[in-house]
Amino acid sequence: MILHPHFDVNEAGHLTVAGVDAVSLAEKYGTPLYLIDTDAVRAMCRLYKNTVKTAFGGASVPAYAGKALCYKGLYRLIAEEGLSADCVSSGELYTAHSAGFPMERVFFHGNNKTDEDLAYALELGVGHVVVDGTDELEALERIAAEKGARAKILLRITPGIDPHTHKKIVTGSVDSKFGMAIATGQAFDFVKAALAAPHIELDGWHCHVGSQIFDIDPFTDACDIMLAFTARVKALFGYTPKILNLGGGMGVRYVEDDPGIDYVKNLTDMGAEFDRMCALYGLEKPAVVLEPGRSIVAAAGATLYTCGSVKTVTGFRNYVSIDGGMPDNPRYALYQSRYTVVNASRAAEKSDFPCTLAGRCCESGDLIAEDAALAQPKRGDIIAVLVTGAYNYSMASNYNRIPRPPVVELSSEGDRLAVRRETREDLLALDL
Ligand code: LLP
Repeated sequence: MILHPHFDVNEAGHLTVAGVDAVSLAEKYGTPLYLIDTDAVRAMCRLYKNTVKTAFGGASVPAYAGKALCYKGLYRLIAEEGLSADCVSSGELYTAHSAGFPMERVFFHGNNKTDEDLAYALELGVGHVVVDGTDELEALERIAAEKGARAKILLRITPGIDPHTHKKIVTGSVDSKFGMAIATGQAFDFVKAALAAPHIELDGWHCHVGSQIFDIDPFTDACDIMLAFTARVKALFGYTPKILNLGGGMGVRYVEDDPGIDYVKNLTDMGAEFDRMCALYGLEKPAVVLEPGRSIVAAAGATLYTCGSVKTVTGFRNYVSIDGGMPDNPRYALYQSRYTVVNASRAAEKSDFPCTLAGRCCESGDLIAEDAALAQPKRGDIIAVLVTGAYNYSMASNYNRIPRPPVVELSSEGDRLAVRRETREDLLALDL
């Protein structure tokens, strides 16, 4: 096993993903190639579905955050597993709808939804619009009235949490483009306006503290602040929310020195804290919604590349260049995100060739990993980057007019092309 149970090495000395030889997958589908182990995705869906229900109470559900990985087949899987979904654009809504996803199970997010987005969401019968601010509330009221509809909403509230310091740095994170802040008092006016809008049905609140968080303190802090807010709203307006949506953000192990995460324990501990706080504030327990994205799909994914140039800059470093890079995985260029890289063709050999894994764009910052170590790579070897299921395909671009790779699903039923490879003709499809 390498990092996660579905990454291993076979007798041929090749990396396997979900038990399938990565080198043979690269031969069959070409590279670069995104792989996703859908049995691993389903296992995470079931873990979340069962644990959220037992930890937070019967009506509580996970809503998969499609921004982590979005294509029709995945929405079909999420629907089959009985999760709700978080969509953040009309493109994600369209994908979910086209996959036959039950739209009443969708939470529609975004800090700047256009009138067109809001009208489209109502037409599709989206379950809840998560309203981000006062003028969006006014726009939704107007659009719902025009359609003779009543829009169910949550309000996006800023609790003022900085997950990276694990402290409540109120002034820091209140300054955000998302939501309305409790600390400034604006969240209370927001609730008042929502309660007064005749074509709006207020079902509760949403907050989101951040992403790639390894322990539960930021979540329990957020829960505490949101429940204290709830108690205050109840006292002021006599209103009690049905839903408390605490957003996404659970971390994932990308490299050996990341901690392992016990998701069941974390969720169970959060649930116990939630119960305790509801009792403390004298509140009936709202249904809790969590919006995991990364932790559902990241570990299930890997990307395969073909090694091209292997170059040593004498006195400096080794550059191993692959046939992909920042267009299919911009996360190192954007955030210096760390990844585990493996020479999939020589996975049983010692990883003792220190190198920088470079992409093929015309840009020095186009790197996937620095300070990597690979079994001595040769032109034509297959290089795997592990744990790329989240925020890789969904963040891919056509920079340098490079077509996007296909997505191949792996499961006990075999391999399936879920998204085909973009062609050069596809790149011209919009050019008039
Ligand atoms: N809900 C809301 C409202 C969010 O803003 C996000 C992520 C999630 C749920 C899902 O969070 P997760 O469970 O995936 O952490 N591109 C960045 C990540 C940006 C996350 C933005 N919001 C990356 O590649 O690390």
